[in-house]
Amino acid sequence: MWCLCVGTLVIIWITHWVYRWRNPRCNNGKLPPGSMGLPLLGETLHFFSPNTTDNIPPFIKLRMEKYGPIFKTNLVGRPVVVSTDSALNHFIFQQEGNLFQSWYPDTFTEIFGRQNVGSLHGFMYKYLKNMVLHLFGPESLKNMISEVEQTVCTTLQQWSFQESVELKEATAKMIFDLTAKKLISYDSSNSSENLMENFVAFIQGLISFPLNIPGTAYYKCLQGRKKAMKMLKNMLQERKAMPRKEQSDFFDYVVEELQKEGTILTEEIALDLMFVLLFASFETTSLALTCAIKFLVENPLVLKGLEEEHEAILKQREDPNSGVTWKEYKSMTFTFQFINETARLANIVPGIFRKALREINFKGYTIPADWAVMACPPAVHLNPDIYKDPLSVNPWRWQGMETNGRSKNFMAFGGGMRFCVGTEFTKVQMAVFLHCLVTKFRWRPIKGGNILRTPGLQFPDGYHVQIIEKDQKMPEPEICKGVNMAV
Ligand code: HEM
Ligand SMILES: *[C@@H]1O[C@H](CO)[C@@H](O)[C@H](O)[C@H]1NC(C)=O
Ligand SMILES: *[C@@H]1O[C@H](CO)[C@@H](O)[C@H](O)[C@H]1NC(C)=O
Ligand SMILES: *[C@@H]1O[C@H](CO)[C@@H](O)[C@H](O)[C@H]1NC(C)=O
Repeated sequence: MWCLCVGTLVIIWITHWVYRWRNPRCNNGKLPPGSMGLPLLGETLHFFSPNTTDNIPPFIKLRMEKYGPIFKTNLVGRPVVVSTDSALNHFIFQQEGNLFQSWYPDTFTEIFGRQNVGSLHGFMYKYLKNMVLHLFGPESLKNMISEVEQTVCTTLQQWSFQESVELKEATAKMIFDLTAKKLISYDSSNSSENLMENFVAFIQGLISFPLNIPGTAYYKCLQGRKKAMKMLKNMLQERKAMPRKEQSDFFDYVVEELQKEGTILTEEIALDLMFVLLFASFETTSLALTCAIKFLVENPLVLKGLEEEHEAILKQREDPNSGVTWKEYKSMTFTFQFINETARLANIVPGIFRKALREINFKGYTIPADWAVMACPPAVHLNPDIYKDPLSVNPWRWQGMETNGRSKNFMAFGGGMRFCVGTEFTKVQMAVFLHCLVTKFRWRPIKGGNILRTPGLQFPDGYHVQIIEKDQKMPEPEICKGVNMAV
């Protein structure tokens, strides 16, 4: 009898709990429509299920059709309001630190370190941001341009000696070397340990089930981070022991800051920041470059436009072999349009997460305090009402967009206060890379190039292309005439 009583109570309690799960409380107003999915799991599995589409992820698309542009769901154990509405996204970005605050799932915090830029707020955050801007601001980038050009040209030349290059991995290595050189003067060819290897292990397990036992992707991810952090720490110790006269990389800057009186910077924070910067740069930019090359293969007219712009730059030079200048870089209008178009279509960041600090009312819906909010860039970037014929690669659509400032409908690099600090750095790298590529080389696809979204962008079988110098003949002349040839 007693047993039965407890049993009944448990069942009532569970039923009530499940009911509450599916019908979360909302004191005022009404919650957006949508389903909270299964108890505990929510709709997490569906959200992460891979799909090969170029379009808005099916998870989002289905719900937009069913519920409209703003809906609720539950991801990784947390109620989330998903916004595919560009006005709400804009509002979220503008209200950063006021109504909303950066928030990423707990596993991310575990993985990235507790004190990473993404989760720091207020004063410390501004301080770190200034450090990063110092490194990637226009003044530094001006000095960096020839360095980038040298690395890029040498790398392309090396690729042209190979029969085929897997672009995703090869561009990742190139970008990693570039960033690591800038941050810590790391040179992979001199170092006995491979720093990048640890980052690759880290990234492969980044979005995986958080089970920390040997053999799992998550375990490898944490191990990769641990090893990379150890290497960075050793490098910092070395640098502290032997400070250099001239400040030339980020470590010099950090050492200087650490020695300032009353500094709020700690070594731990500096190392976490370094890790985040290395991670943020090489994965994103290499995906963008791989996509860019794929788009050029598939759209000869766009390639022609780029070639014309860059040939014209060479023609205007007194010495065609002098490097790219800042002024030339600034004049690459079509290239910037193409970079925007690439970022729009690539949708490298499929969701931008925030937490509501207070109850918020928007367009008749209530977002309760403490709920997560996900702004969904692909849903805006691929909306046919905003971008006509959204799946076509059309850099010309950006003509005239410069004048109306930062558009509300473009959020590949985020928006508001948390706008990506690496945007300009990415653009320098991409523009200079494209400059070398289209003036000196041609290429043809060999295999791969298929995309998968999990919902993060991936190239599951890579993208293999053959690259040769322009004045050289393709090794097999008959392939040269093939339709796939991107000349
Ligand atoms: C194609 C390349 C890139 C894309 C698409 C991209 C995208 C983004 C997006 C969407 C955000 C906003 C995240 C949020 O609001 O929560 C962001 C922030 C950030 N990005 Fe990037 N990024 C790129 C390249 C880079 C590079 C090269 C670096 C560094 C060297 C970098 C460093 C950062 C940092 C530190 C933040 C955090 C800024 C903050 O919280 O204020 N990114 N990025
Ligand atoms: C992608 O999603 C669509 C729509 O939900 C589905 O029909 C298709 O089977 C999915 N494709 C893959 C490869 O999962
Ligand atoms: C790496 O080696 C090259 C040539 O051997 C040298 O010029 C360069 O300074 C080295 N870099 C570092 C960081 O030690
Ligand atoms: C690319 O997009 C940004 C953000 O909307 C905008 O400020 C910039 O002018 C665009 N560039 C071009 C060349 O259209």
